[in-house]
Amino acid sequence: MLSIIGAGRVGSALAFLTAQSGLDDIVLYNRTKNKALGETLDVVNTIPETSLISVMGTDDISSIKNSDVVVITVSGGAIKEDRNELLPFNVPIVSDICKNLRRYADNAKIIIVTNPVDIITHQVLKQTEFPREHVIGIGSGLDSSRFRYLLSKELGTKQGNIEGWVMGEHGPTMVPLFSNAKFNGKKINLQEKKYEEISYLLRNYWKDLVLFKGASVFGAAKNTFDIVQAIIRKKDLQTMASINLSGEYGLSSISIGVPVIIGMDGVKQVVKLDLDPKETEFLKTSAKRISDGLEILSSLIK
Ligand code: 2OP
Repeated sequence: MLSIIGAGRVGSALAFLTAQSGLDDIVLYNRTKNKALGETLDVVNTIPETSLISVMGTDDISSIKNSDVVVITVSGGAIKEDRNELLPFNVPIVSDICKNLRRYADNAKIIIVTNPVDIITHQVLKQTEFPREHVIGIGSGLDSSRFRYLLSKELGTKQGNIEGWVMGEHGPTMVPLFSNAKFNGKKINLQEKKYEEISYLLRNYWKDLVLFKGASVFGAAKNTFDIVQAIIRKKDLQTMASINLSGEYGLSSISIGVPVIIGMDGVKQVVKLDLDPKETEFLKTSAKRISDGLEILSSLIK
């Protein structure tokens, strides 16, 4: 069973993807009951004809009991410039959710969409005391989808011909791995100026989504769905996600986007990619910004 906490745009898009694929039973929680019920009335119409899954909309958090996966999508505000602005709004909401996770879903794999995702992932790990393999933040997988799109536009090809990954913070210090990027299996070489242009567009991609459509929705939902599906179908997936590191990439005690293999038990493995010296430096800067954010987090949960 999948529980989705927050029936806003990402939460309901995730419910839609999950229902229409017949993946599993869904609990769609929202503190405003009618919102949960309204989204549910719509989503149930997408269940395949022969599927036996069910969707339940609720404002009763105890309904998450016995979930295999819980996805946290709630947000207490909109971002203007920087995802860290959301900390004062989202930390108290997530603190409450963590109490309920411990009470009702202590075996579940927890996926965090709420921003700033790397810091909130750290918060969930600390407040639930769940194993680090069970606490996974969404961000770098979405950034990687955007990177492939931007590279495909630059090279005048389809996204499917591009391989490309983004590590680090889901924020302004994210690290596009140009050294690993490929077009039809061959390394991509661009002028230095293009690296900077693409990095800029990538880091600010979300701003156009907010400006033109009011929110970032489908990309976040689809990247979350891929991970939910890997866990529920017990089918390993290699992707980028934010997890707490203990020495990998020379980093410890922060949650940050890294390549991982995810399977039925959550994170199975952190994958080691070779970074060039510049990318290694950028990753350190990114980790530093997350550490600074953790200080804000500590001041908010005291
Ligand atoms: C995104 O990058 C806003 O974090 C959200 O789409």
